[in-house]
Amino acid sequence: MELPKNPGLTEAPMYPAVATVERTVVETAAADLKSFYLKLENGRWDYLPGQFAELSIYGEGEAPIGIASSPTEGDLLMFTVFETGRVSRALHRTSPGEVIGIRGPLGNAWPLDGLKGKNVVVIGGGFAFTTQRSLVRYILDNRGDYEDLVVVYGARSPGGLLYKPELEEWKKSDAMTLYLTVDAAGDEPWDGREGFVPTVVGEEKPSSDNAVALVCGPPIMIKFTLPVLDELGFKPEQVYTSLEMRMKCGVGMCGRCNIGPKYVCVDGPVFSFAGLAELPAEY
Ligand SMILES: Cc1cc2nc3c(=O)[nH]c(=O)nc-3n(C[C@H](O)[C@H](O)[C@H](O)COP(=O)(O)OP(=O)(O)OC[C@H]3O[C@@H](n4cnc5c(N)ncnc54)[C@H](O)[C@@H]3O)c2cc1C
Ligand code: FES
Repeated sequence: MELPKNPGLTEAPMYPAVATVERTVVETAAADLKSFYLKLENGRWDYLPGQFAELSIYGEGEAPIGIASSPTEGDLLMFTVFETGRVSRALHRTSPGEVIGIRGPLGNAWPLDGLKGKNVVVIGGGFAFTTQRSLVRYILDNRGDYEDLVVVYGARSPGGLLYKPELEEWKKSDAMTLYLTVDAAGDEPWDGREGFVPTVVGEEKPSSDNAVALVCGPPIMIKFTLPVLDELGFKPEQVYTSLEMRMKCGVGMCGRCNIGPKYVCVDGPVFSFAGLAELPAEY
C-alpha cells in the first residue's frame, strides 16, 4: 500500500511561518498535556492526518509535533504537546494572542487512500494518540469511503486520556466502535474498563479480514500489541505505525533521523511493519 507524499511542502521549508495561538486546552488531570489551536498568518495548509510540524519559540528552539487536527475541520491547526523539555515547556507558557513559529506540513501521512474500502482498526496508547485523533476525525468526516472503524485507546489513568469531550461523543456514535481502557483507575472516578491496550485488543479480536491496523503508543505497548495482531491474522503489511525519532531539520537535510537509507522525517514518520522489517532495528 502506497504511503501518501507530502501534499503541502513549501519551496522554503526551513523558514518558519508565523502562527497565532488562538486557544489552548488543558487535556490531562496533571496538566502536562495541552492542546494548542493555531491560526496561520498566511492562509491554510494542505496537509493530511499523520503529518507533523516543527513548532518554534523564539530564543528556545523548535520541536517536531504531530498535527492533531484533521484538514476536514477548517483553518485552525491543533497540536497536543507533552511538557517535557525546553521547547514544550515554553509552549506551555504561551497564552492566546501570542505568536510562535511553525514549519510544515512535514513527513508522509497515514495511508488514507489505501484504507478506502477497508476496515480500519486504530490502536493508540498515551499521548501518541494525537495524529490518530486526526485520522479518526478524517474518517468520520469521509465516512462513506471506509468500512468498519474500530478504535482502541488507552492511557495509564482516566485523567491521562486526551480529548475527553470528543471521546464521549465517539462512545455514543454509530459510525465507530470505541474501546477505552486505563491501566489502573486508582482513586479517580472511572466506570470504564481497566487493562492494558494489547489485552483489550486480544479480548475484542478485531477481524483482520480486509482490515488495516494503525498502532501508535509507547514502545512497550507496541511490543505487546504486535503478537496479538499476528494471532488475529494481521500480516506486517496490514499494520502501520508512526515513529518518533529525534529530529532537527525535518526535511531530509541534516541526517539526524535516518534508519539505514530512510529518513524518518521525509520517508516517515508513518511506516508499515513490512517496510520496517527491511530496515536496521535502530528505532
Ligand atoms: C514525528 C514526531 C511527532 C511528534 N509528535 C508529538 C506530539 O504530538 N506531542 C508531543 O508532545 N510530542 C511529540 N513528539 C515528541 C517531541 O518532538 C519531543 O518530546 C521533543 O523532544 C520535545 O522538545 P523539547 O525541547 O520540549 O524537549 P527536549 O529538550 O528535546 O527533551 C525531551 C525529553 O528528552 C530528553 N532528552 C533531551 N535530549 C536528549 C537526548 N539527546 N537523548 C535522550 N533524551 C534526551 C529530555 O530530558 C526530555 O525528557 C513528536 C516527535 C516526532 C519526531
Ligand atoms: S531531521 Fe534532518 S534529515 Fe530528518
